[in-house]
Amino acid sequence: MELNLKHKTAIVAGASKGIGASTAIELAKEGCNIVLVARNKEKLQQLEEKISSQYQVKTLSIATDIKDFKNCKLINQMSIASFSKVDILVNSAGASQGGIFWEIDDHIWEESFELKVLGTIKMIKAVLPDMIKHKSGRIVNIIGNTGKQPSPRLLPGSSANAALLTINKGLGEELAPHGIVVNAINPGPTKTERWITLMEKLSKDTKRKIEDIENDFIKDIPLNKLANPEDIAKIVIFLASNAAANMTGTCITADGGWTKGIV
Ligand SMILES: NC(=O)c1ccc[n+]([C@@H]2O[C@H](COP(=O)([O-])OP(=O)(O)OC[C@H]3O[C@@H](n4cnc5c(N)ncnc54)[C@H](OP(=O)(O)O)[C@@H]3O)[C@@H](O)[C@H]2O)c1
Repeated sequence: MELNLKHKTAIVAGASKGIGASTAIELAKEGCNIVLVARNKEKLQQLEEKISSQYQVKTLSIATDIKDFKNCKLINQMSIASFSKVDILVNSAGASQGGIFWEIDDHIWEESFELKVLGTIKMIKAVLPDMIKHKSGRIVNIIGNTGKQPSPRLLPGSSANAALLTINKGLGEELAPHGIVVNAINPGPTKTERWITLMEKLSKDTKRKIEDIENDFIKDIPLNKLANPEDIAKIVIFLASNAAANMTGTCITADGGWTKGIV
């Protein structure tokens, strides 16, 4: 199937590791030029080298913090200066921590909303004026199934995800007349550094072995496993492509069947 991604430009926010890094690689395989965004310069450079040595695409890495709107605007400006247009924005920056509700510090809640919710909003706001000018654009938000099925020990992330699902849906309608589509993916537990950090924190808080906590999650997942970041990245490719031409405001759940009910 022709996905029509060749020579398109994609910004991936949260590209230094995890789902974002896998997404950058999958987009490069399809011929997209990639703007890699995260704070860790070294990791971005390593990924940039890997992508440029394996695929015939151009890359630009920008080490910055997307919590500051000035930085998001700069990412858009630098992308346009290098590639003339931004076709795709993937939002995959997030690092919500979990824990037992009454023990979670305020700063964990603040960080979760500041980065995941406001960071996503700021990145979208930064690319929109040019996307509106070109009457085209594809935005893919990596959210998380706990927005629909809250996990009691992951409430800062669950509530940030619920907020983003609302924004994703509303923006789909708002931006459709401008030729811009907005869709999302709700991954379930996915084996990335973030997941490992979450498990370590829960293990410390509950004084249980990481393996036991992880198995508690896995026993509720019909496919009986955690996802790999590549599993999620492949769905980003679909949503960023022509194959998803008639979709906006939608969210694809990719959680091994974990979410109960009709989704
Ligand atoms: N893994 C899962 O089980 C799972 C499940 C459902 C949903 N999700 C969601 O999927 C998204 C990606 O998760 P992941 O597991 O891939 O996480 P990850 O491995 O921790 O990657 C997160 C990315 O965000 C970047 N980032 C963090 N803070 C940033 C900031 N202030 N400015 C710019 N970039 C920043 C990180 O790079 P730097 O540290 O270099 O900045 C990294 O590249 C998150 O929103 C997460 O909530 C994950």
